Amino acid sequence: MEGRCIAISFAISTGVEVVASSFKICAFNIRSFGRAKAANQQVMGALVQILSRCDISAVQEVRDAKGSAIQTLLRELNRYDSSHRYRHLESSRLGRGSYKEQMVFVYRRDIVSVIDWYQLGDSDAFVRAPFAARFRSSYTAILEFVLLLHHTSPREAAHELDLLFGVCVELMQKWKTENVMVLGDLNAAGAYIPASAWAGIRLRNHLAFHWLIGDAVDTTVSRRTCCAYDRIIVHGEELLAAVVPRSAKAFNFTEELGLTEEEALEISDHYPVEVNLQLSPKAQREL
Ligand SMILES: *[C@@H]1O[C@H](CO)[C@@H](O)[C@H](O)[C@H]1NC(C)=O
Repeated sequence: MEGRCIAISFAISTGVEVVASSFKICAFNIRSFGRAKAANQQVMGALVQILSRCDISAVQEVRDAKGSAIQTLLRELNRYDSSHRYRHLESSRLGRGSYKEQMVFVYRRDIVSVIDWYQLGDSDAFVRAPFAARFRSSYTAILEFVLLLHHTSPREAAHELDLLFGVCVELMQKWKTENVMVLGDLNAAGAYIPASAWAGIRLRNHLAFHWLIGDAVDTTVSRRTCCAYDRIIVHGEELLAAVVPRSAKAFNFTEELGLTEEEALEISDHYPVEVNLQLSPKAQREL
């Protein structure tokens, strides 16, 4: 099953007839993705392999004031996987003070379209404002869904996680939908969330939110750390029903790409977390 999920581009490049069986969404903190990484062929080679597995990738920590690094990434991705056309949607440059980063949705525009997006305004609430987009794809069983992407500030992680509950409510009213997936490097583990803080986090305690990446998952590359910083949380019974059961996991690219730990850390200190959505009948006919 696992081999079939990732197979749209694989099938074409090898000539093996494999049917794609699901629609993949990932969240990936590509630590400090800027021009240095964009110029590194090993890193870029791995990044395009990782991102080309996904119909939508929610990328964090894009750090390039000129914006050329992400352009390079899209160009390389489109060259690597010519069976799809990739496009991106980027947030503004977020952060207090001089440290800024962007969040970017990379998506297959032949499969998915963006209906609307929403960037929270500057406020004191979040160190970096969350970024949301409403997607439509006739290839998924759900058709329309909202992705709410966030990269918490480590020191404010517990507080920001709680505030995301309010952002979800706002998006549900704004876009008249229940189907919201919260994803990203939420720093939702380890010392950033003291055991006593969990009880006060509405996103965690409200029964309508389903945490698909559990506390025991290790989303970090380093062998010295074991933390579920990166998460996927689903709200909405329709969206939950569209998720392929047990498909949510961290994608261990050290293992999958046969890298050493050192090589893997050049790419990022985080693994992507990913989940599959069931395909629509239309997609099952066409793909
Ligand atoms: C990822 O794979 C590497 C290589 O097989 C392994 O050493 C490491 O423990 C794995 N990490 C996780 C988080 O599964």
